[in-house]
Amino acid sequence: MKTVILIGALGKMGQAALMGLGNHKVITAGRSGDVDHIVDITNEQSIRALYESVGEFDAVVNTVGACEYANFTEMTQTQWMSTVMSKMMGQINLVRIGQEYITDGGSFTLISGILNVKPIPYAIADATTSGAIDTFVKCVALEMPRNQRINVVNPTVLAEAWDVYGEMMPGFEPVPSALVGKAFERSVDGFINGEVIFVDA
Ligand SMILES: NC(=O)c1ccc[n+]([C@@H]2O[C@H](COP(=O)([O-])OP(=O)(O)OC[C@H]3O[C@@H](n4cnc5c(N)ncnc54)[C@H](OP(=O)(O)O)[C@@H]3O)[C@@H](O)[C@H]2O)c1
Repeated sequence: MKTVILIGALGKMGQAALMGLGNHKVITAGRSGDVDHIVDITNEQSIRALYESVGEFDAVVNTVGACEYANFTEMTQTQWMSTVMSKMMGQINLVRIGQEYITDGGSFTLISGILNVKPIPYAIADATTSGAIDTFVKCVALEMPRNQRINVVNPTVLAEAWDVYGEMMPGFEPVPSALVGKAFERSVDGFINGEVIFVDA
């Protein structure tokens, strides 16, 4: 049994990840609500405070990456930066700071999303930062210290979110949260490293 910090635990993707973490002691974290620890992934001090207060842990699973949606021609610098600071730098900082605290051989699992491979309108910032995180994981795996591993789950839309996103995603087939949970399980419980784990129908 590992001690796993699950960030964004109350969100749709957090609930999907939780389905794959049944063998572990899961410590939940998020920006608000009924979680073990409150954290804002866009704030370095908040990330450090999370790791300090948890103490010893073997894995970090992050499912947070807030994105702004607009046509490229209308998207402002502010909208770009809020997406970059959450989905890209927020996740990079979770790893940059977390590598100081995580146990030897610990693992990080990040979130991206299928839109960098299958683009749709309004989602240029999500697609761009998802692509950045996929690249970050593949490359930083080569220089993680103390045998730490890192992977990213790149899922298509969840069946449980289809009522919200389905209309914007013609021709996409949603996947059940339980299947996406398996991808998180494979990252945390397996030995893979530097992988983009696609979950698509
Ligand atoms: N849903 C899908 O089908 C799907 C598919 C592929 C990829 N993804 C990706 O998965 C990620 C999460 O999506 P989701 O559907 O789970 O969204 P969601 O249901 O809206 O949940 C997001 C969670 O993240 C928390 N959060 C937001 N900003 C935060 C911050 N700065 N620090 C800490 N926690 C923060 C939210 O807390 P509050 O409620 O307090 O704001 C909420 O609990 C996104 O990057 C999305 O692109 C989603």
